[in-house]
Amino acid sequence: AISIEKIFSNTSFKMQVRNYTKSFAQNIFPKEKRDMKSKTVFYCKNCGNEFPRWQGQCPACGAWNSIEEFVQKPASAAKGKSAAPGGSASVRTLREVDTEQELRFSTGLGELDRVLGGGGVRGSLVLVGGAPGIGKSTLLLQICAYLGKSQRILYVSGEESERQIKMRADRLDVESENLLLLSETDVTTIVETVREVAPDILIADSIQTLYNPESTSTPGSVSQVKDCTMALMQLAKGSGVTVFVVGHVNKEGAIAGPKVLEHMVDCVLYFEGEQSSNYRILRAAKNRFGSTNEIGVFEMEEHGLIEVPNPSEMLLAGRPIGAPGTCVACAMEGSRPVMAEVQALVARTSFNVPRRTTDGFDFNRANLLLAVAEKRGGLSIGMCDAYINVIGGLQLDEPAADLALVLAVASSYRDKPIDAKTTAIGEVGLTGEIRSVTALQQRLSEAARLGFTRCLIPRHGTQQITAPSGMELIRVRNIREAIEFSL
Ligand code: TYD
Ligand code: MG
Repeated sequence: AISIEKIFSNTSFKMQVRNYTKSFAQNIFPKEKRDMKSKTVFYCKNCGNEFPRWQGQCPACGAWNSIEEFVQKPASAAKGKSAAPGGSASVRTLREVDTEQELRFSTGLGELDRVLGGGGVRGSLVLVGGAPGIGKSTLLLQICAYLGKSQRILYVSGEESERQIKMRADRLDVESENLLLLSETDVTTIVETVREVAPDILIADSIQTLYNPESTSTPGSVSQVKDCTMALMQLAKGSGVTVFVVGHVNKEGAIAGPKVLEHMVDCVLYFEGEQSSNYRILRAAKNRFGSTNEIGVFEMEEHGLIEVPNPSEMLLAGRPIGAPGTCVACAMEGSRPVMAEVQALVARTSFNVPRRTTDGFDFNRANLLLAVAEKRGGLSIGMCDAYINVIGGLQLDEPAADLALVLAVASSYRDKPIDAKTTAIGEVGLTGEIRSVTALQQRLSEAARLGFTRCLIPRHGTQQITAPSGMELIRVRNIREAIEFSL
């Protein structure tokens, strides 16, 4: 007879027991079944962060009531659909991937091509975001006129009927045999239609109106918007259709809900502008195929959007002449120099703590420059309110605009105007020194083209810079010299 302990200490018996338990567990919870379990996660509509449970306030961005439930599809159910982008799971070397067929195409609008990084890319998904009424539908309908000459376009609208699109197209002078219209919000129907008519380009207006009937949440909710974008993305990568999607931006400035979309799509463009002005700026927040520094400038006219190839003129239009508190800066927007007016209003404060606000300029950078101007420029602005504004909706986040800001502040403080034909380019350091900037020669040519006759530039590192004809260069070492010269 064998004692019971002996049986348990026998290794082969142990193995048998282990294998048995393992297969038992696998029978009860087969792998597919385990994968089939759908998972619930919670997303913040505002910032897109993910949480395991619902909360009243988002711990990441602090927004109230912005967290929404999202049921993730079971892994195995999603697997069939979401293989590698392009459909195949086979491996290829870099050299084998062919780029024979032309990948880029022009949209017919040079400013849009510039922001896209040199034209649209076949099989990419571009999200065009912006506030309602800014002109997203107009922009996308307008490019159909040119694209329709050589490509088939399917324009799907969930916001307007075919008749309304036709009316708008007539007003924009868009006429093409190749432009197909569909008024539809069901994303599965859209996918089917695309497979049927095989367009080269799909325009979907807007992502918030689309819905997937398989998902139970309401159109415009995070899960719907994610689902629909995923479906369109698979369409783009799988069949090579180029997709343009419109997304409305909410009050906070994030594309409503689909802040969560930014990581999915290839390119995110924001269309911005003030309701009061006709000018619109298109900028890329993300671009897998190009730089995100470029901007495109348009003007909204009666018959649609007109390109503005020289934005400096527009930004300087209506500039006050002979008024204190303004100076013109020259910033590089991508590869293009753009002149913009920086305004400052400096006045004795009536509060305990001086007020400072900036529009179009980084707040902390402006505060730093105000401190430098006080300490190194000899302006006692410590107890003054300072309001900084960049005209034209441009965001000057480049150090080259520092000097113009300091001069605008000094001009306002001393109540003396800076000569209207003088501009200033340079970065300001903490000791008040003026440092050299990139692409100075290019900036100077732009300033000369716009009729500026004098330009303050850094003294260091600018020996080889030559003045464009008709322009005098003033090389300054620090902000004190710059202020003394220009005021
Ligand atoms: P729209 O493209 O409908 O905005 P979005 O799709 O971004 O919501 O643009 C609507 C605005 O543009 C509206 O205020 C009127 C103006 N507009 C013009 O000034 N001229 C035009 O030719 C068109 C079509 C629109
Ligand atoms: Mg619209």
